[in-house]
Amino acid sequence: RQNKKNRALEIYGLVRDVFRFWLSKEVGLSAVQYLEKRNLSQEVRETFQLGYSLPGWDHLVRFLNSKDISSEELAKLGLIQAKETGRYFDRFRDRIMFPIWDTQGRVVGFGGRTLGDDTPKYLNSPEGEYFNKGQLLYGLHIARRGIREQGFAVLMEGYLDVVSTYQHGVTNAVASLGTAFTREQGKLLMNYTHQAVVAYDADEAGIKAAIRASEILQELGCQVRIASIPEYKDPDEFIQRHGLAGWSKIIDAALPLVHFKLTQAVKKVGLKNSTAKRSILQEVLPNLAAVASPLELEEAVRYTATVLQLNWETVLAEIKAYKANNR
Ligand code: CTP
Ligand code: MN
Ligand code: MN
Ligand code: MN
Ligand code: MN
Repeated sequence: RQNKKNRALEIYGLVRDVFRFWLSKEVGLSAVQYLEKRNLSQEVRETFQLGYSLPGWDHLVRFLNSKDISSEELAKLGLIQAKETGRYFDRFRDRIMFPIWDTQGRVVGFGGRTLGDDTPKYLNSPEGEYFNKGQLLYGLHIARRGIREQGFAVLMEGYLDVVSTYQHGVTNAVASLGTAFTREQGKLLMNYTHQAVVAYDADEAGIKAAIRASEILQELGCQVRIASIPEYKDPDEFIQRHGLAGWSKIIDAALPLVHFKLTQAVKKVGLKNSTAKRSILQEVLPNLAAVASPLELEEAVRYTATVLQLNWETVLAEIKAYKANNR
């Protein structure tokens, strides 16, 4: 079993090297041009071991077959797929390849981005024995040092966000591989830090997912704040325009969960009448009830009271009632 795992890791590592080789050659020119268009430096491409999968149907199959790796084995690892005809073809074709590592930096899968805007934009390794999206955090083995040095982690949505912000000096970021953050990912992150800032995309899906991720982290006992990215879609686009200095301001301005939710809710429904107030309060009560630190709770209660124009005693009484009802 251990042997089998070692063999799998060896093949994933080899495949990463093949993708890197292709990127470095004439055949990878269009991919290099794409990466240049995205302003990703040679250095950061190497740090994140970016590569390129060739267009055509079976370059990878044929190369690996020639190294005595069978198609059946490659298919089990999710690298190639069988056609009805029984012939195999490469899963990843004409894509920028992002290796995905376990916490020890061993490749366990890939994400591949198109060079254009065909769909799916990203194609990932299929879920399997070694690749479980919900149990991995992209870039964690690279970010662990930055997380330790800075005392907190930043959670982002995408590969590109982590790579691009790293190039600008953000060394403590990891990505959840899409928007759905899991408890397992939360626990994994908390092996390294108990402080996190969630910096998901600025769209509605990103905001919703950021709230959900923060709730999960808070439940696990992590201190968490949510960053808002103004003007731009995501951390990548923001940092390209505003640099590390702008990024630091966004991190400093990140709001605790309750503050963030209140801000969002007031923006959405306003404070027209007491029904609106009540519904907003209902929305943040579970989060208020979950705040563990007394200091943080006092701040959150005061803030809620101010925003909703209520006495803080009222808010506290509501929290007590909520807790009593949800024991
Ligand atoms: N994702 C995915 N499959 C898709 C779309 C997205 O797995 N079809 C995951 C990828 O991990 C991606 C992340 O969700 O990095 C965020 O998606 P999105 O915001 O759409 O992409 P970006 O990271 O912003 O990439 P780009 O800037 O290249 O558009
Ligand atoms: Mn811990
Ligand atoms: Mn997104
Ligand atoms: Mn993007
Ligand atoms: Mn994005």
